[in-house]
Amino acid sequence: MSNSGPARIPRHVAIIMDGNGRWARQRGLPRLEGHRRGVETVRTVVDAARELGIRCLTLYAFSAENWKRPGDEVSGLMGLLDLFLKRELDNLIKEKVRLRTIGRTDALPANVQRELARVQEATRRFTEWNLVLALNYGAQSEAADAARAYAEAVLAGREKPAELTWEKFSRYLSTADLPEPDLLIRTSGELRLSNFLMLQLAYAELVFTPVLWPDFGRADLVAAVEEYGRRERRYGATTEQIKAGAR
Ligand code: FPP
Repeated sequence: MSNSGPARIPRHVAIIMDGNGRWARQRGLPRLEGHRRGVETVRTVVDAARELGIRCLTLYAFSAENWKRPGDEVSGLMGLLDLFLKRELDNLIKEKVRLRTIGRTDALPANVQRELARVQEATRRFTEWNLVLALNYGAQSEAADAARAYAEAVLAGREKPAELTWEKFSRYLSTADLPEPDLLIRTSGELRLSNFLMLQLAYAELVFTPVLWPDFGRADLVAAVEEYGRRERRYGATTEQIKAGAR
């Protein structure tokens, strides 16, 4: 990497933060300790992303399927989230980062919902940097919610099915005013999307790293962004067309 950093910076990076449990098991520690270290990585990566010029960072913090985990792990994760929001508020304001969420946050514990509302309200005026937490998020239920909202708009006479395009439909998704992710990173060597942003990732570059999330650092983010910079994004066109300047 040169002093100036990677040449091509993705506008939006989405991350599946995986491997906290294995990190803990390898050290004979409780799983929650892995999640605690995972929260420290979140802080490191939010800072590093901003330094690199990544304007939008979406983190898969709790999937709609994660409720299946043992009750003490779920409540431990909710506690960490609550603590994270309390601790990060001042930093987010100082760094001018807007916090947003995607997912059905109304099912989260009341204290977490309260903190989320407080941090979102306090950062809503910022436009340059976005940190999006996917909480109780699942792409399939997001698609179902969007289809329902669209159908209601049709019934109310605000939409015409014959005029439906992806651009129009995407306004019904929870990511409506965010750019689609350019780069998806998944840590811990798993090669799955796990119901994360499946429609929005249609043209994203996918980078899988064996590094476990608690061990993921600035250098790993830079390496993923450099890998992104080496990929040719063709969006269905040919290499020749891309070289000639077509999208
Ligand atoms: C996957 O590791 C990680 C999660 C399910 C939770 C991710 C949550 C955090 C990093 C902390 C909370 C986030 C914020 C933003 C405060 P895993 O438990 O599935 O690991 P394993 O596959 O090795 O068991």
